[in-house]
Amino acid sequence: MKTKILIIDDEEMIRLSLGEGLKDMNYSVATVSNGKDALEEVKKFAPHVALLDMKLGDENGLDILPRIKKYDIDIEVVIMTAYGDIASAVKAMKLGAFDYINKPFDLEEIDIIIKRIIDKKELQNKVFILEKSKKEKLYGENLIGQHPLMQQVIEKIEIISENDDVTVLIRGETGTGKDVVASAIHNNSIRKNNNMIKINCASTPEHLMESEFFGFEKGSFTGANTRKKGLMEIVDGGTVFLDEIGEMPMNMQSKLLTFIEDKKFRRVGGLEDIEVDVRIIAATNKNLEEAIENNEFRKDLYYRLNVISIYLPPLKERGQDIILLATRFLEKYNKKYNKNIDGFTEEAKDKLLNYEWRGNVRELKNVLERAVLLGDGESITAKDLPLTNKRHANIHYNIDNRVEKNKLLNPNYSLEEEVENMEKKYIKIALEESGNNYTKAAEILGLSRYALKRRLEKYF
Ligand SMILES: Nc1ncnc2c1ncn2[C@@H]1O[C@H](COP(=O)(O)OP(=O)(O)OP(=O)(O)O)[C@@H](O)[C@H]1O
Ligand SMILES: [Mg+2]
Repeated sequence: MKTKILIIDDEEMIRLSLGEGLKDMNYSVATVSNGKDALEEVKKFAPHVALLDMKLGDENGLDILPRIKKYDIDIEVVIMTAYGDIASAVKAMKLGAFDYINKPFDLEEIDIIIKRIIDKKELQNKVFILEKSKKEKLYGENLIGQHPLMQQVIEKIEIISENDDVTVLIRGETGTGKDVVASAIHNNSIRKNNNMIKINCASTPEHLMESEFFGFEKGSFTGANTRKKGLMEIVDGGTVFLDEIGEMPMNMQSKLLTFIEDKKFRRVGGLEDIEVDVRIIAATNKNLEEAIENNEFRKDLYYRLNVISIYLPPLKERGQDIILLATRFLEKYNKKYNKNIDGFTEEAKDKLLNYEWRGNVRELKNVLERAVLLGDGESITAKDLPLTNKRHANIHYNIDNRVEKNKLLNPNYSLEEEVENMEKKYIKIALEESGNNYTKAAEILGLSRYALKRRLEKYF
């Protein structure tokens, strides 16, 4: 498209000669002789550049300039002044003119200014595209989702990002993307240049939690040889991501609540209130309502956190998003492993769409990594996807469980033993269920008869 230039000058000679000259230079030109016509032409012709004479009969260019800019701030205005009228030129620049030029001038001089305007516009466009693509990158690569439920999630993230200090609760099963959402909120907010710190409430020992969060004063407990800042202080201005909030001990929950409400705290052993500005994002895969019933979670904290909550649906409820995600992961691992697998067979797609996906997006990602690494065909086939629908839907392993964690603290703990015990337990149940029918028991367990037999020989 040609650059459009509007000449606003009351001298007919200038309109004609400058107009023709610019047309010869391949610009598109319109001319007017007064302020009123100028504004009309601005609307009709939508120029990129306006060349505005400072003196238009009894009108002053400085009165017209702001009206043009007010109508469309992107129109660049170049003021044409009488030689030596520097004061007006400076005024014009303050009012938003791009530049000024002293009359009389050569066509080349004005051409140089117009070219500078074009360069600036191109640069602005580039920056705009870059900004936009950054945004798309954030949502497009890290948070893929076109299902209406995921679109709602994305819309919420945008709103939350703009409202800089609301507390957010992210809920969803393991692997549904809670970490991804927390990062998206932080990275889209004005806090993005400050830190986001993630604290896992399940893995921070209970007795250290308060001092981790809020810091401590010298001598406040045995071993406190110096004063130490807590995470809330360190991350001032940024975001604190409290993962697995459902595992936070009750006494810490009340301290957190007070902190969220007052935005200030005291270090352990400290007397002074410390004020900080942090946004709290909490996440959990636990049923907090149930935890409240069981007196494991404070109702008041729940309400405080739940002002805005984001629920991430399980992967199996996201329909075609499964294929969308699988395709993205396929591209990713194609690159990583230098492969060239071009897609999925229909059968493979069916398999992906009908699987349970207990581990949600994380599991899908892992399955794809393996399939790409081992796959040697043109497409991923059903065979490349080792997905057997798990039968025991009600057996749920909750790795966040405190019982399990305490077990791990035992120095004699052995994973192998644990697995053996578990195998024994389920084999027994399966045998009972099947009335000691080995074929049936093997089927229940998802094992071959031979594999079951081998285990029976080993354990019983
Ligand atoms: N919508 C999505 N688009 C692309 N990748 C995703 C999406 N959701 C999750 N992932 C990827 O899946 C994996 C698991 O996501 P994430 O760690 O955020 O889950 P989580 O809900 O925090 O899990 P957990 O409860 O175990 O902490 C990550 O590798 C993440 O990049
Ligand atoms: Mg997580």
